[in-house]
Amino acid sequence: MQEQELSLIRLFEEERPRVHCALERAVELLPAPVREIGAYVLLAGGKRLRPLLTLTASRLLGRDDPGLYRLCAVPEMIHAASLLHDDILDEADTRRGRPSAHTRFGLRPALLAGDAMLALADCEVTVFGKTEMVECVSDAMMRTVAGEAHEIALQGSCSHGEAEYVEVVTGKTGWLLRASCRLGALYAGADPRRVEALSDFGLYAGIAFQMVDDALDFADAAVTGKPCGGDLREGKFTPPIMRYAGELDEAGRAAFGEKFASGSFSDEEIGRIAADIRERGHDAAARSLADEYLHRAEACLALLPEGPELNVLREVIPFIRDREK
Ligand code: FPP
Ligand code: MG
Repeated sequence: MQEQELSLIRLFEEERPRVHCALERAVELLPAPVREIGAYVLLAGGKRLRPLLTLTASRLLGRDDPGLYRLCAVPEMIHAASLLHDDILDEADTRRGRPSAHTRFGLRPALLAGDAMLALADCEVTVFGKTEMVECVSDAMMRTVAGEAHEIALQGSCSHGEAEYVEVVTGKTGWLLRASCRLGALYAGADPRRVEALSDFGLYAGIAFQMVDDALDFADAAVTGKPCGGDLREGKFTPPIMRYAGELDEAGRAAFGEKFASGSFSDEEIGRIAADIRERGHDAAARSLADEYLHRAEACLALLPEGPELNVLREVIPFIRDREK
């Protein structure tokens, strides 16, 4: 197990400078007025999971050349743009422990920088001349928007359950991880069964990724770089909150529902509920839900060829399951 962990970490370390170069190149292609904002969000670090999935998927299926770096910047641009827009929608002041782009640069420039990154991602994928790749990126963007819009429509509501939550996270996070894998597979010219297996792997891994993210919403802000309990403030009814609300008596649930709907919890209340959620293990239970999707992701790997890249994909599973930030 330790050896397996090492190969994922080694890939992260080895590839980070080359992925960073590809992102720097992409930043140069942004229109001058939004370039600084693009650099702020694209070159700030982060796990770079999406580009690494694209690289690994293509290599697994037999293609590795310099063009792959240009391609792997595409899902990262979409990811960065979606977080930039998400911070505007969520009115989030910080991201990764520093001011969010709109807080630092202003709402309108930040909005346009996100738009430019999305447009650039689109332009960049067309250079490979494969309609399926363009379709993959467009689908992912549409589904991401649909997931986010669905989440906004449900904001403040406590009346939906896990199934609807799964629909939301499939859209807002699953589809872009799916595209990250699928792009690599399409670039390699893989046979359709393998393209689909890798796409499904990405989709399930992405769903689980968001579920773990929603469990981490109750972790220490100093570790995650995001304020603890943000989903309570933002009225997002995630599994740890569903479990918490489910244990309240009728009067407690009514009072909770009112504050949740109006987003009027005080900082003290957020702190108390978050502590309760941790103590009762509702965040840990939400990780078990993620496990279900990680098992599905793992099953997809059976259809793919053995080799060092397959080991990297296997290691993505504990990486998502056990992450702490
Ligand atoms: C983070 O969720 C948000 C997303 C994963 C998707 C955001 C999507 C949009 C804003 C739609 C625009 C789409 C495109 C393609 C640009 P979160 O708020 O739960 O996570 P957080 O705690 O990291 O903010
Ligand atoms: Mg957010």
